[in-house]
Amino acid sequence: MSKELVSIIDVPKHVGEEVTIGSWVANKSGKGKIAFLQLRDGSAFFQGVAFKPNFIEKFGEEAGLEKFTAIKHLNQETAVLVTGTVKEDERSKFGYELDITDLEIVGESENYPITPKEHGTDFLMDHRHLWLRSRKQMAIMQIRNAIIYASYEFFDQNGFIKFDSPILSGNAAENTTDLFETDYFGEPAFLSQSGQLYLEAGAMALGRVFDFGPVFRAEKSKTRRHLTEFWMMDAEYPFMSHEQSLDLQEAYVKALIQGVLDRAPQALDILERDSDLLRKYIAEPFKRVSYDDAITLLQEHEADEDADYEHVEHGDDFGSPHETWISNYFGLPTFVVNYPASLKAFYMKPVPDNPDRVLCADLLAPEGYGEIIGGSERETNYDSLLEKIRENGLNPDDYAFYLDLRKYGSVPHCGFGLGLERMVTFVAGTKHIREAIPFPRMLHRIKP
Ligand code: 4AD
Repeated sequence: MSKELVSIIDVPKHVGEEVTIGSWVANKSGKGKIAFLQLRDGSAFFQGVAFKPNFIEKFGEEAGLEKFTAIKHLNQETAVLVTGTVKEDERSKFGYELDITDLEIVGESENYPITPKEHGTDFLMDHRHLWLRSRKQMAIMQIRNAIIYASYEFFDQNGFIKFDSPILSGNAAENTTDLFETDYFGEPAFLSQSGQLYLEAGAMALGRVFDFGPVFRAEKSKTRRHLTEFWMMDAEYPFMSHEQSLDLQEAYVKALIQGVLDRAPQALDILERDSDLLRKYIAEPFKRVSYDDAITLLQEHEADEDADYEHVEHGDDFGSPHETWISNYFGLPTFVVNYPASLKAFYMKPVPDNPDRVLCADLLAPEGYGEIIGGSERETNYDSLLEKIRENGLNPDDYAFYLDLRKYGSVPHCGFGLGLERMVTFVAGTKHIREAIPFPRMLHRIKP
């Protein structure tokens, strides 16, 4: 293919010019002398129009008719090289149209299973490899990409370096209940639940560090917020207090939202996501509420009409209806801080003067999108950490390297982990997490 191809997203730069686009036929319509092709190339969708008289004029009666007839008979998802002149077109959503002057078929397609009619979720999930070609899925993947890009940019601008944590691990990072275990040459090994413990070693070696990779949780929950394999951005930084850590997390989440507004505005349009609302989340300070105040609020409002949650006591964990109510109540991303130690992982530092509570925060996205970040200040004292490891029924030998970090120059440090797909779901405004990752892994779903 020697021709220089133009992407659809760049078409506005070529008004009045003849361009060639490598694309697929997403849909087709038209009657008699005219054919409309919905073209897509992964960057955007737009319409090409073929007009029979133009083909006859350009190629002669026989060849022109043959070309035009071939266009009229194109099947959905046929791959084509389309040549045409770019025109502005106010009536179309994209704002531009292609006046087709030539078309070459590159790859035929027959009986494409996903037709423009409605399909059930199971059917679409079974055809995920093809479903990804739809307009909405393209937009979500573009948002995911913008978030990843903005994440690297933010960490780079804030003095972090990327420090890759292993995927295979000899110990549990979060808890022992949802580990995927595998055999490692006769020894048990686990798929990483979070790179955090290794990142802490990184922070003591290199200062501000982050990782970004897949993590695994054998959670048997079938909800719209849970995957068994998802991508986590963990960050860890020495010499920082919990409050400073919250400031950093807030700046990070705002940078990610801004990144999507800057880099994928067309995707937000396709998804009809309210960009002004996203701008508001950037403009206003996030809310901060303590776990205990949140419980009290939930108790005070449990008889309200919109209070679609069960009664909670101090010490109980939140379910997603509680999280949704809290985030709706504040209408902004909300940090819930200082949870009971019993609800959280072993490595968190207790609140001074209140050892039942730990210096941690979950960031709840607004509009009911759930928790997007979990973070905390880490226990720095060797003996306290050892005791916590034992109390949690863990084997200190498995955490020898982690305990060592408290022996040789232990310093206050904090960190957090953001679930990429939760963030994508929130920014894209899509209800189910399964659409936020190319090939979702969930309870009873490992194919395709
Ligand atoms: O709150 P979590 O469990 O925190 C940790 O793993 C810490 N070690 C992170 C750290 O401090 N470095 O998980 C962090 C985030 C959650 O806030 C959520 O966004 C996401 O990971 N997450 C999930 N996303 C999709 N499916 C699941 N099953 C998830 N579990 C957690």
